[in-house]
Amino acid sequence: GIDVSSLLKETGHVAVDPGYANTASCASAITYIDGEAGILRYRGYPIEQLAEKSTFLEVAYLLIYGELPTRKQLDEFTTNITKHTLLREEMRLFFDGFPRDAHPMAVLSSAVSALSTFYQDSLDPFDKDQVEISTIRLLAKFPTIASYAHQKSIGRPLLYPDNSLGYVENFLRMTFGVPSEPYEVDPVLVNVLDMLFILHADHEQNCSTSTVRLVGSSHANLFASVSAGVNALFGPLHGGANQAVLEMLQDIYNSGGDVKAFVERVKRKEKGVRLMGFGHRVYRNYDPRAAIVKKAAQEVLSRTGQGDPLLDLAMSLEEIALNDEYFIERKLYPNVDFYTGLIYKAMGFPTEMFTVLFAIGRLPGWIAQWREMIEDPMTRIGRPRQLYVGPSARDYVPIEQR
Ligand code: ACO
Repeated sequence: GIDVSSLLKETGHVAVDPGYANTASCASAITYIDGEAGILRYRGYPIEQLAEKSTFLEVAYLLIYGELPTRKQLDEFTTNITKHTLLREEMRLFFDGFPRDAHPMAVLSSAVSALSTFYQDSLDPFDKDQVEISTIRLLAKFPTIASYAHQKSIGRPLLYPDNSLGYVENFLRMTFGVPSEPYEVDPVLVNVLDMLFILHADHEQNCSTSTVRLVGSSHANLFASVSAGVNALFGPLHGGANQAVLEMLQDIYNSGGDVKAFVERVKRKEKGVRLMGFGHRVYRNYDPRAAIVKKAAQEVLSRTGQGDPLLDLAMSLEEIALNDEYFIERKLYPNVDFYTGLIYKAMGFPTEMFTVLFAIGRLPGWIAQWREMIEDPMTRIGRPRQLYVGPSARDYVPIEQR
């Protein structure tokens, strides 16, 4: 109901850009996206090549330091991370304090925020040594925190990290392992999860990354900024979408599996009914990550031998949507979240953990973007303007006269 054009005339120089869809908030050398062509590159390297050939920690190094590491650099980076995977004992006690039904994203953001209370050498964003050790601590402790959030929610004891294992294996063992029982990790699943983390590792100025930068622009430390990013990712229009997709598929399945009827409800724009996992602010073409994930979903589901009726449902939903005028006109294609949930489910993760997995993947991007922001002489505190649409000046009315 607001006449934006006349307000614009009044305020003159303020650009109104809801959702910042046409505003570049910074210059960045980290990630390139061409939404029309469906291209995604980290530091110039195509996502398809990185997904196929690289590893998550190598990609983390690339994003944060700008170049692929040499063997020696990667070994040092990995060893350094491995040394910091333990949480302080006081911090482990937190997990007894959170309610058992707490959403693991809420636990994750709280625990990451609390890192600033334990590490006094994290508070100065301009001290390069502090930034470096905070970077390593975050990468190392984030999966430990994430898996503890899960173990607590199912009433299981917390396992200490096993530093003889790789990054992803260690995470899986801490998440699913039981004390004093050996935990067999399927190497194929480790590789798929590692690859999924790569696909999520950065995506330029999305909602959570912009949040990390905005909080950091006030010179808040890395832990504080990243915990804000975790909270931004919590929402169902962003990282929460992978959980929402699975819930949507489950609902359709439970009510008889009529995919066409569901699509009709989406098209009628019934309140709260969207085709979750479809659409993207930047991609107006197939999300290049979605193509890779779809293939992985088919592989993993055939491997775990379970077959999942929800995968068939997802594929027919996609088929119908891709041939429907509503979705074609609006350029709505599957995004990265459309198939990831099915893989996570097949791996044994409960739906509440899906967004946590996204967060683990996105962490190197948040760190890289925060560091770029803090070092950039162009950075100013983020402070958008507004169009004021409230009452004009009026006199205070004493309470007896209202
Ligand atoms: N299902 C049905 N209709 C949709 C969908 C969808 N998933 N997404 C967009 N539309 C429609 C809108 O109703 C609108 O139509 P209209 O012009 O007739 O009103 C049009 O397409 C444009 O949509 P906007 O909401 O303006 O697009 P925006 O760029 O603001 O939103 C978003 C992008 C949030 C991703 C949206 O597509 C969405 O809600 N998708 C579902 C949630 C989802 O999958 N999120 C994950 C995003 S990717 C990520 O975070 C990794």
